[in-house]
Amino acid sequence: MSDSPIVAILMGSKSDLPSLQGAFRIFQQFGLPFTARVMSAHRTPKIAADFADSAEAKGIKIIICAAGMAAHLAGSIAAHTTLPIIGLPLASEPFNGLDALLSTVQMPPGIPVATVTAGKNGSKNAALYAIAILALSDGGVAADLKKFRREQADAVMIADKELQQELDN
Ligand code: RP5
Repeated sequence: MSDSPIVAILMGSKSDLPSLQGAFRIFQQFGLPFTARVMSAHRTPKIAADFADSAEAKGIKIIICAAGMAAHLAGSIAAHTTLPIIGLPLASEPFNGLDALLSTVQMPPGIPVATVTAGKNGSKNAALYAIAILALSDGGVAADLKKFRREQADAVMIADKELQQELDN
């Protein structure tokens, strides 16, 4: 994207990419520039630490970290920056994401990670939560988020209306 990214989406492995498409779509829908990178707390710890150390100076405001298994990416990134970190636990064998959930959510006191719903659905929530933070200091983003909520509610009401018509027939 041409604009400088204000959100970074990090994933522990390229194998995590399919789970992140929902977040990409949300940021594209809101017209917010983001960057997405593969880096690992375990396999490339220095690259991850350097990214976190320099993120704020590059204009990044929020970092989303997606990882499965021991899932230390969010915590290790949070250790290197005071930017808000959103952790997205992903499912893998054999524990189906419970391992990543506990690893991501149970940060020791002092270094917080805001953990969202696990997996693909959490990817959308991670993006929407990041947008809610951005909305605090950007009226345009706040208006777009309220519009998104209205449209989402409208879709539910339309679905209900359709269901009632189906039941009446
Ligand atoms: C984690 O280990 C990654 O986030 C991924 O979810 C999991 C497995 O990684 P790969 O073996 O597929 O590279 O670090």
